[in-house]
Amino acid sequence: MASAAEIRPLARDDDRSGFSCGHADLDRFFEHYAGQNQFKLHLAVTYVAVVAKRIVGFATVAPSAIERASVPNARLRKRLPSYPLPVLRLARLGVDLRARGLGIGSGLLRHVLVLALEQRDRLGCVGVVTDAKPSAVAFYAGLGFEALDGVREGTLTSEPLPMFLGIETIAHALPP
Ligand SMILES: CC(C)(COP(=O)(O)OP(=O)(O)OC[C@H]1O[C@@H](n2cnc3c(N)ncnc32)[C@H](O)[C@@H]1OP(=O)(O)O)[C@@H](O)C(=O)NCCC(=O)NCCS
Repeated sequence: MASAAEIRPLARDDDRSGFSCGHADLDRFFEHYAGQNQFKLHLAVTYVAVVAKRIVGFATVAPSAIERASVPNARLRKRLPSYPLPVLRLARLGVDLRARGLGIGSGLLRHVLVLALEQRDRLGCVGVVTDAKPSAVAFYAGLGFEALDGVREGTLTSEPLPMFLGIETIAHALPP
């Protein structure tokens, strides 16, 4: 479902208390660390989805790199060099419990994919990576993400699963 949320960067004076996506670690990050990571430490940028002036979701992104060996697509892997490859990391994603199932999560993700295309054009980017919580693996898989190679065997079912969506797939899904 397409959502009517406005998506914009977090602002210093946004009220982040009262947000709850049902995962205490994500809620704590959003309330206490998203601001300092963005405005003081410059580690990442958080984008918020706003409906009727209320923040109903957030996505935090940062530039990162992966090794060629972990790229899931064998054909793509062959074409890539063996030094670290630039990616956009979706570090955190959460939608308030009261706004679930309204397309807010997929809207935020779409925004992140557009950022990845901008990174591709300005800085280089071979795809988006995320560490998917087990309960969200199906959500990401439904959007085309695949497990990074070489991680599934060693990953406990309770641990986050590193997942990847290639830039060509993103460009295909979001034509200019
Ligand atoms: C996962 C999450 C971000 C999804 O947000 P949402 O706004 O409810 O999702 P959307 O309404 O955009 O759903 C998009 C599609 O994904 C599906 N979906 C949503 N959550 C899903 C899940 N956990 N597993 C499988 N599919 C899911 C929806 O049914 C919908 O499918 P459709 O397009 O066929 O109708 C949200 O449930 C959440 O914040 N979960 C807790 C935190 C979390 O797990 N974050 C990810 C951490 S890595």
